[in-house]
Amino acid sequence: MSAGPGTSEVADPYRESRIPGETRRVRRLLPDHAETTVAEQLAQLELKELAHPDRPYVLMNFASTVDGRATIDGRSGPIGTRTDMEMLQRLRTRVDAVMVGARTMRIERYGRMVSDPALRAYRERTLLSHDPLGVLVTRGLDLPWDASLFTNGGGRVVVFTQSDAEPPETATPVTCVRRPDGVDLAEALGWLLRERGIRSVLCEGGPTIHGELQARGLVDELFLTIAPKLAGREERSILTAPLPDVVGLELEWLLESQGELFTRYRVRGAEQDG
Ligand SMILES: NC(=O)c1ccc[n+]([C@@H]2O[C@H](COP(=O)([O-])OP(=O)(O)OC[C@H]3O[C@@H](n4cnc5c(N)ncnc54)[C@H](OP(=O)(O)O)[C@@H]3O)[C@@H](O)[C@H]2O)c1
Repeated sequence: MSAGPGTSEVADPYRESRIPGETRRVRRLLPDHAETTVAEQLAQLELKELAHPDRPYVLMNFASTVDGRATIDGRSGPIGTRTDMEMLQRLRTRVDAVMVGARTMRIERYGRMVSDPALRAYRERTLLSHDPLGVLVTRGLDLPWDASLFTNGGGRVVVFTQSDAEPPETATPVTCVRRPDGVDLAEALGWLLRERGIRSVLCEGGPTIHGELQARGLVDELFLTIAPKLAGREERSILTAPLPDVVGLELEWLLESQGELFTRYRVRGAEQDG
């Protein structure tokens, strides 16, 4: 089988057994120069040991145009390329849980978090559960219950909600964690660590939940794809304001493929004056 343009078959059989699937080539520009692949680059992520005493380690992932838009016509799909999609899929293979805001779930209608059986097997080989736990946050429990995340029966989902409504029967097991006075995201993350042993969370947005997490100092890293495009219209940015303080970021790596930039920032916290 030959690899498509911009993709690479991983030649070394030992490595191939560890990192399955066709992967796309990327140039690493920082911290050093190297030709690599998305698979190899993301295989480096070992996050379990980075959990905080009171909450999991939290990664945030977004794609943005050069003019800072996180949607085009209300959707994230038109922003990134297939390399960006692979980056997201492979980030999902490195974490215990994937968290999504309810509006993103309603618009993007998620399926099983890791759909490729080879990638699920890879998770197990790297001592993660078969499927990452799906985590949703909603006040009203108005979720697209016919989306494949709920109907395909793979994995498990936890929904944090203040609603007392009963969810419908779903093939995928769903647990509702009810907080009648409102969902506190720090408390929800603490619950995931304490009650489910979740040590790393990938949050895939949207901008509202990103803003809330940043405002509470609950994000450890930001993976931001910068697509070589100008949206040129009033649409969402990656983060809903206001933040109480400007948040400082430290660039950990910079990758490039066909003009698309893949950044990994560590969140330093509130910026001090001067
Ligand atoms: N470019 C990208 O990488 C990217 C990534 C993700 C999303 N997006 C785009 O972003 C848009 C959606 O983002 P969004 O900011 O509108 O929404 P969002 O952050 O996905 O979800 C917001 C919703 O989450 C629930 N929520 C948030 N905080 C909560 C809390 N503390 N307690 C309980 N529920 C809480 C509420 O759900 P209820 O309304 O159910 O109460 C709220 O309406 C979509 O257009 C999507 O395509 C882009």
